[in-house]
Amino acid sequence: MKIFIIGNGGRENTIAWKIFNSDSFTENNGKLYCTLGNPGIDVFAEPVSISPEDITALKEFAVTEKIDFTFVGPEVVLSQGIVDVFEKSGLMIFGPTKKAAEIESSKIFAKSLMTKNHIPTADYKSFSSNEYDKAFEFLNDCAYPVVIKADGLAAGKGVIIANDKDIAEQTLKDFTAGNSLSTAGLNFIIEEYLEGDEISVFVICDGSTYIILPFSQDHKRILENDKGKNTGGMGAVAPILKYMNESLIEKIKTKIIDPVLKAMKDEGRVYKGCLYCGLIIANNEPYVIEFNCRFGDPETQAVLPLIKSDFLEMLIASAEGGIKNYSLEIDNKYVCCVVLVSKGYPEIYETGKLIKGLEEAETINCLIFHSGTEFDNHRNVISSGGRVMSVVGISNDSMEDAANISYRNAEKINFENKYLRRDIGHRQLATLSTSSNKNKEFAD
Ligand code: AMP
Ligand code: GLY
Repeated sequence: MKIFIIGNGGRENTIAWKIFNSDSFTENNGKLYCTLGNPGIDVFAEPVSISPEDITALKEFAVTEKIDFTFVGPEVVLSQGIVDVFEKSGLMIFGPTKKAAEIESSKIFAKSLMTKNHIPTADYKSFSSNEYDKAFEFLNDCAYPVVIKADGLAAGKGVIIANDKDIAEQTLKDFTAGNSLSTAGLNFIIEEYLEGDEISVFVICDGSTYIILPFSQDHKRILENDKGKNTGGMGAVAPILKYMNESLIEKIKTKIIDPVLKAMKDEGRVYKGCLYCGLIIANNEPYVIEFNCRFGDPETQAVLPLIKSDFLEMLIASAEGGIKNYSLEIDNKYVCCVVLVSKGYPEIYETGKLIKGLEEAETINCLIFHSGTEFDNHRNVISSGGRVMSVVGISNDSMEDAANISYRNAEKINFENKYLRRDIGHRQLATLSTSSNKNKEFAD
């Protein structure tokens, strides 16, 4: 069985590891391929030198190599319609179609879908490229902070939390001049700021039913105590025990997941693949801050180690419409993922730094997933991206223990000017070992 992974970051390294360790992969004599690869991914998958954004070349490779199943990591190719192209050629692929992926690629579409269907989210107003004056005027009436979001895909740079009107005005100027985001911010929304606790929810959908993977929590800001610039994610923990209870989980299903999947179906945008719901929990009520059409990074690194049932079978069930026959099993464990980043990230960052100590990392209860790394001419591993790698600690006992394992191993891996946040999991650490509320399976 030949499987092709598109994308080559920490999320895809985790997916490759998990597929490689699925019984169905071994039983079917599995072979993995991955676009470009990296030193972490290459352990499991043969690298293929095709850009993860070149849909035509990707399809040709899949046809020529007789690939049985393709997994897509990044949002860009999903929003460009890779699933439509592959399915048209009779190729099985995991992910939503172009029309369904619009739930991430247009924030204006996602907000209006939520409003029409009474899905709880922050109040907002959308503005198109010829309504700048109206938008500037609207800023006079806003309560601050206010959130300004580019309509289009912006690689994690499209959301600005403006603490005052001056910053809001400057953001609108930057967006509309195309300074920071090219065309992604020409249309935009201005949204109410919600105070609360954020969680990430991965919903695996097959077009008619779904399962929910363990809840996780990302740490988006660059500095400790959630200060500083937004990043792609500096670390994640799973499962989330604090704030979660049966009544909240029921609300997440009935007020958010069920209506959004129904609305998408009613609009002719049947949703398959992973629907990532970014939620803010305020007073035991869930509000959507974003939908993504894919697995999150670094949440994937924290969630997948908790899955006990066959992961490859789950992905195939999503593509084939078989989720109702899939039995999700979750391990009663705790996972903490700490991301090591390059100096300068999330702005211009250093690269080419020699990474030392990888062989010293523990192999029991610790996983290392590579994001921005490559081999130099002497087969040394060097940094090549802003987020360099994830150090993942896994514990049977507590989140504190999982965090200790991550940090102990993060110390062993070194490169010049390595930076990491020292407080990953801080919002969970108070309630970590309440066994009565340990991981549950949330299957519909
Ligand atoms: P996004 O790129 O949509 O995930 O937004 C980036 C981050 O901005 C989120 O993870 C939140 O921390 C924050 N954010 C987005 N929308 C809101 C909102 N309405 N209220 C408060 N924080 C928000
Ligand atoms: N960790 C946030 C994201 O993947 O969008």
